[in-house]
Amino acid sequence: MDGINLVDPDLYEHGDPHAVWRWLRVHDPVHWHPPTHLPGFWAVTTYDNVRAVYRDHARFSSAAGILLRPESHGRDPGGGRTLALTDPPRHGELRAVVDRWFATTSVRAMEPPMRSAAARIVRDAVERGSCDFVFDVAARLPLQVICTLMGVPDSDHEAMFAMTSRAFGAGRAEDRSTAHFEILQYFEALVADRTRRPGDDLVSALVTAMVGGRRLSLDEVLLNCDNLIVGGTENVRLAAAGGMLALMDHPAQWQLLRDEPGLVRGAVEEVLRWTSPATHIMRTATVPVMLDGRRIATGDRVTLWNPSANRDDAVFPGADRFDVRRSPNRHLSLGSGEHLCIGALLARVELRILFEVLAAHVARIEPDGRATRLRSVVVNGLERLPVRLTAA
Ligand code: HEM
Repeated sequence: MDGINLVDPDLYEHGDPHAVWRWLRVHDPVHWHPPTHLPGFWAVTTYDNVRAVYRDHARFSSAAGILLRPESHGRDPGGGRTLALTDPPRHGELRAVVDRWFATTSVRAMEPPMRSAAARIVRDAVERGSCDFVFDVAARLPLQVICTLMGVPDSDHEAMFAMTSRAFGAGRAEDRSTAHFEILQYFEALVADRTRRPGDDLVSALVTAMVGGRRLSLDEVLLNCDNLIVGGTENVRLAAAGGMLALMDHPAQWQLLRDEPGLVRGAVEEVLRWTSPATHIMRTATVPVMLDGRRIATGDRVTLWNPSANRDDAVFPGADRFDVRRSPNRHLSLGSGEHLCIGALLARVELRILFEVLAAHVARIEPDGRATRLRSVVVNGLERLPVRLTAA
């Protein structure tokens, strides 16, 4: 295969990245990707190699950043300071500050309000008849949930929805960065408020935490807030919308879910595998490492391509088949090891509730225009999904 370019956004908007990953898995599973507008990096595409790197935080560090970025942008400002961008032992200390909000008991307690919110969202979309599933359905529940956890007052949820839709959804790059800046400004005000009057929420936990024997700086708190709001909204939105499209493309599987609601739990795993919303995650080698016969030098960037690992036939028989009954289904969509997604349980519950409510209240979902894909090397999935919903 000539001219492999995994960082060309066209590939994700219009092309077939799975064809490229399939070739790499067979012919060059640890591939040296020469510099483009981004610096050169190793591209790791098979399941076993991706999993091995995720689980080896000593030799593959997160502290210099977990996403490819142009050399001219300099160091990632979150490097060594946010949950995702720290190594042990600081990573463990930071994770302990926010852990309890994502633990089983907290997530279980949120199920009834999540179910009511999902029912409202789906009812509104059905009443409207036609809608953009990405904007009107998939994006709403995760935003509401993460706002509640972070202590954003209910009266501000709609404003936050508007800002995150502009920052992470469709639209011009300039408008996206302005909206992102507005989100940070919003959190700066919330942080000031919670510093004066701490409450029982994630922002207060970050403001009052002692990590490494000192309080977090304002920048550190804001960067972690950003991490949580981005992680909490974008990925679930992409999984929900991509899952809906897969079910529309496989009507027999949608009918199966409607007939046997007990299958939804397994369907969520298949939706996560199929959609793999995080396209790549990066590490930096801390020592020379041999990986599948390739010599990786200290300081080299090593990228893990989740959507590729999740279509590896060696682990998932018939990997290109969408099958809500697939078992076992040990996909890597939520990462693995030390940095395993902290919102893994929350994301699974949000997706389960959303698909349970949809299967119960919607008989038919049909396309109502052209679905468009995101032009992104970082997140994988749909920008718009116009649909027509018919009530059950
Ligand atoms: C379908 C939904 C989701 C997907 C596909 C996803 C994907 C991932 C992946 C692949 C990682 C590992 C990053 C690494 O190893 O460097 C991760 C970590 C993380 N995710 Fe998620 N995520 C999802 C939902 C959520 C939710 C709901 C939250 C809620 C706040 C969240 C917050 C985070 C945070 C803070 C981390 C960093 C954890 C750490 O470094 O210890 N994610 N996520």
